[in-house]
Amino acid sequence: MSVPSYSITAVNDADHRPELAARRQDFPILERCVRGQPLVYLDNAATTQKPRAVIEAMARYYRECNSNIHRGVHTLSQEATERFEEARVKVQRFIHAAHSHEIIFVRGTTEAINLVAQSYGRPQLKPKDEILITAMEHHSNIVPWQLLCEQTGAVLKAVPMNDAGELLLDEYVRLLGSRTRMLALTHVSNALGTINPIGEMIDHAHAHGVPVLVDGAQAVAHMPVDVQALDCDFYAFSSHKLFGPTGIGVLYGKTALLEAMPPYQGGGDMIKSVTLTKTQFNDLPYKFEAGTPHIAGAIGLGAALDYVQEIGFEPIGRHEHELLRYASDRVASLHGARIIGTAREKASVLSFVLDGIHPHDLGTVLDCQGIAIRTGHHCAMPVMERFHVPATARASFALYNTPGEADRLCAALRDAQRMLG
Ligand code: ALA
Repeated sequence: MSVPSYSITAVNDADHRPELAARRQDFPILERCVRGQPLVYLDNAATTQKPRAVIEAMARYYRECNSNIHRGVHTLSQEATERFEEARVKVQRFIHAAHSHEIIFVRGTTEAINLVAQSYGRPQLKPKDEILITAMEHHSNIVPWQLLCEQTGAVLKAVPMNDAGELLLDEYVRLLGSRTRMLALTHVSNALGTINPIGEMIDHAHAHGVPVLVDGAQAVAHMPVDVQALDCDFYAFSSHKLFGPTGIGVLYGKTALLEAMPPYQGGGDMIKSVTLTKTQFNDLPYKFEAGTPHIAGAIGLGAALDYVQEIGFEPIGRHEHELLRYASDRVASLHGARIIGTAREKASVLSFVLDGIHPHDLGTVLDCQGIAIRTGHHCAMPVMERFHVPATARASFALYNTPGEADRLCAALRDAQRMLG
């Protein structure tokens, strides 16, 4: 993070920046109180809040043209189909994919990774083949590969990290060998905030003929993603961490790979023709979209992408980096505080422990003051093991958080220390 440090006064003044105040007004939930205090929402890595534009786009669909897509000749169905497919094109542009048929709507990152494991991995992996992940993966980028290993006899390996939570690239180079068939890694760690050097890692994997899946769940709300520039083979993310609705996400895949893969699930919409003895599958992307999809969800995701792009990643990134630096410095200055995850390149996640206080107790005390943070293993138990902690407290920031909220976090942490320490 190459950001300047700010004096407390200067940063608190930023709370009064009109553009930040206006941005907060786009999110109705930020107006509510929790336990008698104005809500401070710092659990954005778990899910982000939704702007009015997203809520309205979804309500508009239900109000104006609720109908099933692709199958109907009637007007409502055609309008719904149009809005759904427009959303796909918005996703394509958002991540700079070459074609809209490379955008598969799924339930979320987890389903996207399971789809790749089962449709790409399972048909071709042999006993002793290797899948390479990293030691900082979310369970959803570990367990699908473990299941695949059980099914095929393949072996799962993980790139270790240093005490700052940065991948050991020498180890990566050593582990990526002639048996490696897939590299699956996170763009940004949900438990540590580390931004991985995925461009460099993808280049190295490709030099060895190894395809790469990137878990972008924690990246897409914070930085621009260009799947063509990265040249990743698959990129997965969830809408709900990007100001869109829950229950919908995206799998991007390169055309040639997706075309060669069998369907993940069978059902309506993914077929061209069915007889009782044989089915001819549909073209991309529909081959992977069996059943009625989350139509309102896709439309909401499209609205979320419009919202984020209207603000732009340059101001979002600058704001979040300043906030992360500010909050990290303040938390680090607390007696007995240890930040878990001190990588040079970080995005929006501040994981920490306070001596003698269990993170769950911290979370409860903070909730009494209207402050929402996450406590636990963050679905990344191997990360907790690596840092010898059972759990951490995690404050995670988004484009609407303010330095004043970081101040309230720190004041509440000091209260918790007085009460529990
Ligand atoms: N993966 C989400 C998190 O990190 C739920 O909190």
